[in-house]
Amino acid sequence: MSNVAAEQTISQEKINFYRENGFVQMDNLLSTQELEELREYMAEVMEAEGGHSTQTDKKGGTYYRVLNQKVNTWRDHGGMGKYSFHPRFAEIARCLTGAKGIRFFHDHALLKMPGDSKPTPWHQDLVFWPMNETGALSIWIALDDVDENNGCMMFVPKSHTAGKLTPINLVDPTDINEYVKGTEIAQQQPVKVPMKAGSCTFHDGLTFHYAHANVTEKPRRALAIIYMPDGTTYSGVSHLITDNLDLKENEPIRGRMFPLLAVEVE
Ligand code: SIN
Ligand code: NI
Repeated sequence: MSNVAAEQTISQEKINFYRENGFVQMDNLLSTQELEELREYMAEVMEAEGGHSTQTDKKGGTYYRVLNQKVNTWRDHGGMGKYSFHPRFAEIARCLTGAKGIRFFHDHALLKMPGDSKPTPWHQDLVFWPMNETGALSIWIALDDVDENNGCMMFVPKSHTAGKLTPINLVDPTDINEYVKGTEIAQQQPVKVPMKAGSCTFHDGLTFHYAHANVTEKPRRALAIIYMPDGTTYSGVSHLITDNLDLKENEPIRGRMFPLLAVEVE
Protein backbone atom coordinates (compact mmCIF):
# COMPACT_ATOMS: atom_id res chain seq x y z
CA MET A 1 0.00 0.00 0.00
CA SER A 2 1.37 3.43 -0.87
CA ASN A 3 1.91 5.89 1.92
CA VAL A 4 -0.67 8.49 0.89
CA ALA A 5 -1.39 11.64 2.86
CA ALA A 6 -4.99 12.62 3.47
CA GLU A 7 -6.62 15.41 1.47
CA GLN A 8 -7.62 18.17 3.89
CA THR A 9 -10.02 20.22 1.77
CA ILE A 10 -12.06 19.98 -1.41
CA SER A 11 -11.48 22.18 -4.46
CA GLN A 12 -14.00 24.70 -5.80
CA GLU A 13 -14.04 22.69 -9.02
CA LYS A 14 -15.27 19.63 -7.14
CA ILE A 15 -17.83 21.70 -5.24
CA ASN A 16 -19.19 22.96 -8.56
CA PHE A 17 -19.27 19.42 -9.93
CA TYR A 18 -21.23 18.22 -6.88
CA ARG A 19 -23.78 21.00 -7.17
CA GLU A 20 -24.29 20.37 -10.87
CA ASN A 21 -24.32 16.56 -10.83
CA GLY A 22 -25.43 15.61 -7.31
CA PHE A 23 -22.33 13.55 -6.52
CA VAL A 24 -18.55 13.90 -6.50
CA GLN A 25 -15.54 11.63 -6.06
CA MET A 26 -12.67 12.60 -3.78
CA ASP A 27 -9.47 10.56 -3.74
CA ASN A 28 -7.25 10.07 -0.68
CA LEU A 29 -9.76 11.20 1.91
CA LEU A 30 -7.90 8.94 4.34
CA SER A 31 -4.17 8.61 4.86
CA THR A 32 -2.72 5.10 4.77
CA GLN A 33 -2.60 5.07 8.56
CA GLU A 34 -6.20 6.26 8.93
CA LEU A 35 -7.37 3.61 6.47
CA GLU A 36 -5.68 0.85 8.44
CA GLU A 37 -7.08 2.14 11.70
CA LEU A 38 -10.63 2.46 10.38
CA ARG A 39 -10.52 -1.07 8.92
CA GLU A 40 -9.52 -2.39 12.34
CA TYR A 41 -12.26 -0.46 14.18
CA MET A 42 -14.86 -1.59 11.66
CA ALA A 43 -13.85 -5.24 12.08
CA GLU A 44 -14.21 -4.87 15.86
CA VAL A 45 -17.60 -3.21 15.71
CA MET A 46 -18.98 -5.68 13.14
CA GLU A 47 -17.92 -8.59 15.37
CA ALA A 48 -19.48 -7.14 18.52
CA GLU A 49 -22.93 -8.39 19.50
CA GLY A 50 -25.63 -6.40 21.27
CA GLY A 51 -24.85 -2.82 22.18
CA HIS A 52 -26.57 0.28 20.86
CA SER A 53 -25.90 0.02 17.15
CA THR A 54 -28.39 -1.82 14.93
CA GLN A 55 -27.65 -4.70 12.61
CA THR A 56 -30.41 -4.35 10.03
CA ASP A 57 -30.58 -8.00 8.94
CA LYS A 58 -29.08 -11.33 9.96
CA LYS A 59 -26.94 -13.61 7.83
CA GLY A 60 -29.34 -15.61 5.66
CA GLY A 61 -31.86 -12.75 5.46
CA THR A 62 -32.89 -11.24 2.11
CA TYR A 63 -31.58 -7.75 2.88
CA TYR A 64 -28.29 -9.19 4.14
CA ARG A 65 -27.62 -10.31 0.56
CA VAL A 66 -27.84 -6.65 -0.48
CA LEU A 67 -25.99 -5.27 2.54
CA ASN A 68 -24.57 -6.49 5.79
CA GLN A 69 -25.34 -3.20 7.52
CA LYS A 70 -24.75 -1.86 11.01
CA VAL A 71 -26.28 1.53 11.81
CA ASN A 72 -24.80 3.99 14.33
CA THR A 73 -21.55 2.12 14.94
CA TRP A 74 -20.31 5.19 16.87
CA ARG A 75 -22.57 4.18 19.75
CA ASP A 76 -20.59 0.98 20.29
CA HIS A 77 -17.07 1.99 19.37
CA GLY A 78 -15.24 5.23 20.09
CA GLY A 79 -12.89 4.51 17.20
CA MET A 80 -15.83 4.53 14.79
CA GLY A 81 -16.94 7.78 16.46
CA LYS A 82 -13.57 9.32 15.62
CA TYR A 83 -14.36 8.83 11.91
CA SER A 84 -18.15 9.25 11.97
CA PHE A 85 -17.81 12.64 13.71
CA HIS A 86 -14.61 13.60 11.92
CA PRO A 87 -14.60 17.42 11.56
CA ARG A 88 -12.62 17.24 8.31
CA PHE A 89 -15.26 15.13 6.56
CA ALA A 90 -18.12 17.22 7.96
CA GLU A 91 -16.48 20.46 6.83
CA ILE A 92 -16.17 19.09 3.30
CA ALA A 93 -19.89 18.18 3.42
CA ARG A 94 -20.65 21.71 4.62
CA CYS A 95 -18.67 23.25 1.74
CA LEU A 96 -20.48 21.04 -0.77
CA THR A 97 -23.93 22.06 0.46
CA GLY A 98 -23.07 25.67 1.22
CA ALA A 99 -24.87 25.31 4.58
CA LYS A 100 -23.81 27.44 7.56
CA GLY A 101 -23.69 24.36 9.77
CA ILE A 102 -23.69 20.58 9.30
CA ARG A 103 -25.18 18.06 11.70
CA PHE A 104 -24.64 14.34 11.92
CA PHE A 105 -27.69 12.16 11.20
CA HIS A 106 -26.28 8.63 11.39
CA ASP A 107 -23.42 6.43 10.28
CA HIS A 108 -23.58 2.94 8.82
CA ALA A 109 -21.04 0.28 8.04
CA LEU A 110 -22.00 -1.15 4.64
CA LEU A 111 -20.54 -4.51 3.73
CA LYS A 112 -21.37 -6.40 0.58
CA MET A 113 -20.68 -9.98 1.41
CA PRO A 114 -19.25 -12.53 -1.02
CA GLY A 115 -21.24 -15.59 -2.00
CA ASP A 116 -24.78 -14.72 -2.60
CA SER A 117 -24.56 -10.99 -3.20
CA LYS A 118 -27.26 -8.82 -4.73
CA PRO A 119 -26.80 -5.31 -6.13
CA THR A 120 -28.03 -2.33 -4.13
CA PRO A 121 -30.92 -1.27 -6.38
CA TRP A 122 -31.27 2.22 -7.84
CA HIS A 123 -32.75 4.49 -5.20
CA GLN A 124 -32.84 7.95 -3.63
CA ASP A 125 -31.92 8.09 0.08
CA LEU A 126 -33.75 11.19 1.18
CA VAL A 127 -37.18 9.65 0.64
CA PHE A 128 -36.40 7.33 3.59
CA TRP A 129 -35.13 10.08 5.89
CA PRO A 130 -37.49 11.93 8.25
CA MET A 131 -36.61 15.38 6.95
CA ASN A 132 -38.83 18.09 5.47
CA GLU A 133 -36.06 19.90 3.62
CA THR A 134 -33.61 18.70 0.98
CA GLY A 135 -29.83 19.17 1.23
CA ALA A 136 -28.87 16.18 3.38
CA LEU A 137 -26.11 14.06 1.88
CA SER A 138 -23.91 11.01 2.41
CA ILE A 139 -20.22 10.43 2.34
CA TRP A 140 -19.38 6.88 1.24
CA ILE A 141 -15.82 5.92 2.17
CA ALA A 142 -14.34 2.86 0.46
CA LEU A 143 -12.29 0.67 2.80
CA ASP A 144 -11.41 -1.66 -0.09
CA ASP A 145 -10.53 -0.92 -3.70
CA VAL A 146 -13.92 -1.02 -5.43
CA ASP A 147 -14.99 -1.73 -9.00
CA GLU A 148 -17.96 -3.36 -10.69
CA ASN A 149 -16.89 -6.81 -9.46
CA ASN A 150 -17.20 -6.08 -5.76
CA GLY A 151 -19.82 -3.35 -5.47
CA CYS A 152 -18.63 0.04 -6.61
CA MET A 153 -21.28 2.73 -6.79
CA MET A 154 -23.02 4.24 -9.81
CA PHE A 155 -24.78 7.59 -9.91
CA VAL A 156 -27.24 9.24 -12.29
CA PRO A 157 -25.84 12.72 -12.91
CA LYS A 158 -28.24 15.60 -12.20
CA SER A 159 -30.92 13.26 -10.83
CA HIS A 160 -30.92 15.27 -7.57
CA THR A 161 -32.91 17.91 -9.46
CA ALA A 162 -35.84 15.50 -9.92
CA GLY A 163 -37.22 16.04 -6.39
CA LYS A 164 -38.50 13.27 -4.09
CA LEU A 165 -39.94 10.33 -6.01
CA THR A 166 -41.78 7.32 -4.53
CA PRO A 167 -39.49 5.25 -2.26
CA ILE A 168 -38.14 2.09 -3.89
CA ASN A 169 -38.32 -1.30 -2.19
CA LEU A 170 -34.65 -2.17 -1.64
CA VAL A 171 -35.26 -5.90 -1.47
CA ASP A 172 -37.76 -6.23 -4.31
CA PRO A 173 -37.17 -3.14 -6.46
CA THR A 174 -39.31 -1.81 -9.28
CA ASP A 175 -37.71 -1.97 -12.73
CA ILE A 176 -35.79 1.33 -12.82
CA ASN A 177 -36.51 1.89 -16.51
CA GLU A 178 -40.24 1.74 -15.86
CA TYR A 179 -39.84 3.84 -12.74
CA VAL A 180 -38.10 6.80 -14.40
CA LYS A 181 -39.84 6.52 -17.80
CA GLY A 182 -40.80 9.94 -19.11
CA THR A 183 -38.68 11.83 -16.52
CA GLU A 184 -35.43 13.69 -17.21
CA ILE A 185 -33.56 10.98 -15.29
CA ALA A 186 -34.26 8.54 -18.15
CA GLN A 187 -32.14 10.74 -20.48
CA GLN A 188 -29.02 10.60 -18.30
CA GLN A 189 -26.21 8.02 -18.63
CA PRO A 190 -25.33 6.54 -15.19
CA VAL A 191 -21.69 6.97 -14.15
CA LYS A 192 -19.71 4.10 -12.61
CA VAL A 193 -17.28 5.14 -9.85
CA PRO A 194 -14.46 2.62 -9.22
CA MET A 195 -12.11 3.89 -6.50
CA LYS A 196 -9.07 3.04 -4.43
CA ALA A 197 -9.51 2.21 -0.74
CA GLY A 198 -9.41 5.41 1.35
CA SER A 199 -11.17 7.43 -1.36
CA CYS A 200 -14.79 8.49 -1.14
CA THR A 201 -17.82 9.87 -2.89
CA PHE A 202 -20.37 12.34 -1.58
CA HIS A 203 -23.89 12.14 -2.92
CA ASP A 204 -26.94 14.31 -2.43
CA GLY A 205 -29.86 12.57 -0.72
CA LEU A 206 -31.89 12.94 -3.91
CA THR A 207 -29.29 11.54 -6.32
CA PHE A 208 -30.16 8.15 -7.77
CA HIS A 209 -27.45 5.61 -7.00
CA TYR A 210 -26.79 1.89 -7.26
CA ALA A 211 -24.03 -0.53 -6.22
CA HIS A 212 -23.01 -3.67 -8.06
CA ALA A 213 -23.23 -7.11 -6.51
CA ASN A 214 -20.00 -8.47 -5.04
CA VAL A 215 -18.86 -11.45 -7.10
CA THR A 216 -15.40 -11.63 -5.49
CA GLU A 217 -14.29 -13.79 -2.58
CA LYS A 218 -13.91 -10.98 -0.05
CA PRO A 219 -16.34 -8.57 1.64
CA ARG A 220 -16.55 -5.05 0.22
CA ARG A 221 -16.33 -2.67 3.17
CA ALA A 222 -17.55 0.94 3.23
CA LEU A 223 -18.40 3.49 5.90
CA ALA A 224 -21.20 5.90 5.02
CA ILE A 225 -22.07 8.94 7.14
CA ILE A 226 -25.19 11.00 6.64
CA TYR A 227 -25.06 14.74 7.24
CA MET A 228 -27.84 17.31 7.23
CA PRO A 229 -27.76 21.10 7.04
CA ASP A 230 -28.25 22.58 10.52
CA GLY A 231 -31.90 23.60 10.86
CA THR A 232 -33.27 20.62 8.90
CA THR A 233 -36.66 19.84 10.44
CA TYR A 234 -38.29 16.56 11.46
CA SER A 235 -41.03 15.34 9.12
CA GLY A 236 -42.36 12.58 11.36
CA VAL A 237 -41.75 9.86 8.74
CA SER A 238 -40.93 6.60 10.54
CA HIS A 239 -37.17 5.95 10.72
CA LEU A 240 -35.01 3.59 12.78
CA ILE A 241 -32.93 6.43 14.21
CA THR A 242 -35.69 8.85 15.19
CA ASP A 243 -38.73 6.68 15.99
CA ASN A 244 -38.27 6.60 19.76
CA LEU A 245 -36.72 10.00 20.31
CA ASP A 246 -39.78 12.14 20.93
CA LEU A 247 -38.81 14.66 18.26
CA LYS A 248 -41.40 17.32 17.48
CA GLU A 249 -42.73 17.44 13.94
CA ASN A 250 -41.51 20.44 11.92
CA GLU A 251 -38.96 21.37 14.60
CA PRO A 252 -35.20 21.27 13.85
CA ILE A 253 -33.55 17.88 14.36
CA ARG A 254 -30.98 18.43 17.10
CA GLY A 255 -29.81 17.06 20.44
CA ARG A 256 -27.25 14.56 21.67
CA MET A 257 -27.76 12.08 18.81
CA PHE A 258 -27.28 14.72 16.11
CA PRO A 259 -24.20 16.79 16.95
CA LEU A 260 -23.25 19.90 15.02
CA LEU A 261 -19.96 18.88 13.41
CA ALA A 262 -18.99 21.85 11.25
CA VAL A 263 -19.87 25.54 11.20
CA GLU A 264 -18.99 28.35 8.86
CA VAL A 265 -16.25 30.58 10.21
CA GLU A 266 -17.21 34.24 9.67
C1 SIN B 1 -23.97 0.32 -0.93
O1 SIN B 1 -23.01 0.54 -0.18
O2 SIN B 1 -24.05 -0.73 -1.55
C2 SIN B 1 -25.06 1.32 -1.11
C3 SIN B 1 -24.86 2.59 -0.42
C4 SIN B 1 -26.01 3.54 -0.50
O3 SIN B 1 -27.10 3.16 -0.89
O4 SIN B 1 -25.85 4.74 -0.18
NI1 NI C 1 -28.40 4.86 -0.67
